[in-house]
Parts: sequence; structure tokens; C-alpha cells
Amino acid sequence: MSSSIKQDLIASIRNIPDYPKPGVMFRDITTMLGNARSFRRAIDELVHPFAGQKIDKIAGVEARGFILGGAMAHQMSSGFVPIRKKGKLPHDTVRIAYSLEYGVDEMEMHRDAIKPGEKVILVDDLIATGGTAEAATKLLQQMGAEIIAACFVIDLPELGGRKKLEALGVEVLTLVEFD
Ligand code: PRP
Ligand code: ADE
Repeated sequence: MSSSIKQDLIASIRNIPDYPKPGVMFRDITTMLGNARSFRRAIDELVHPFAGQKIDKIAGVEARGFILGGAMAHQMSSGFVPIRKKGKLPHDTVRIAYSLEYGVDEMEMHRDAIKPGEKVILVDDLIATGGTAEAATKLLQQMGAEIIAACFVIDLPELGGRKKLEALGVEVLTLVEFD
């Protein structure tokens, strides 16, 4: 990605101090999504590494992974699989607990959402500690997915999430970094 595109993406993300609790600098992508050029560029950069590859499913993590993943799935002619907070999906699910930068939660996906051997890309807006993406990776792997990569607009490298996913054998692709 050119450095000017990267700078535009960084500038399009809003920084909110002390949200959702003191000491957290929240990286808010709603401003990026609201800017037609930044949104398109982000999606173009997220799908670019997979040009010419047949990807069966994009798995998006609630909530902002749904927005990015839906756009990616459309552009790549792939299916979309929602990975949701517990209690939201109507059919038979697989569930896993995970920890966050600021709390604990559980996520789930439909048991029949992925067929064994399907090629899947995991997507979310941001990787911090990697707890969320690690849990999503484990769910997908449990269902027999071949995870081609995990993609994020934002990496917070100081929190070590990338290493957590790489330890599970997953390639991690990110567009911009913040301290
Ligand atoms: C944010 C972000 C990722 C997760 C990353 O979601 O969208 O899903 O945190 O943090 P981690 O790498 O430390 O696990 P959040 O928990 O704010 O949930 P939301 O998307 O429902 O607001
Ligand atoms: N999820 C975890 N840490 C975050 C941060 N700093 N900004 C936005 N989402 C997050």
C-alpha cells in the first residue's frame, strides 16, 4: 500500500481517549466508514492480497467485522459468516469464551456455517490483545475451516495480538498501526 493511502486511512480514523474506560485510546473506524473514499480504499486493500484466489467464506466478528466482511465478501464473491456475541444466533451454535483488552465475553457461530476444508478469511476492524481473533480462529478451526488469513484494518502491536494468531498458524494482515 502506498504511504499516502496509509496516511489517509490513519487520518480517517478518530481517536477517542478514555473510552470505554480510563486509559484506553479507542480507535473509532466509523469516521473511516463514513468517508466514501476511505471506506473503498480500506476494502480494496483488504481484498488485494487474495486477488485470483477462490475464498469460500469471509468470517466477520461482531460488530465492526460485519461491515468490513460484508463488503469484502461482495467484492470477492465469497459467502459471509457472522461470528456473534452469545445468544444472538437462532440455530445450533458452537461457543467459546474469550478475554478482551477491557473485559470478558463469549462468542458463537452456527455449527453448520462452515464445511470442513472450506477456505476462510477472518476479518475484524482491529486486533489488540488478540483474544477476540484467537477465539474466532479456534471456533473456525474447530469446524474444519482452512484459515487463509486474518485481516484487520488496525493493529495495536504493543498488545501482542499478531503473535497470538501466528502461534495458531494463521497469517495476519493489517493495514495501519497505532501505539
Ligand atoms: C473490539 C474490536 C475487536 C476487539 C479486539 O471489539 O472490534 O473485536 O475489540 O480486541 P482484542 O484483540 O483485545 O480481543 P469490542 O470488544 O469493542 O466489541 P464491539 O465490536 O461489539 O464493540
Ligand atoms: N478493541 C480493543 N481495544 C480497542 C481500541 N483501543 N480501540 C478500538 N477497539 C478496541
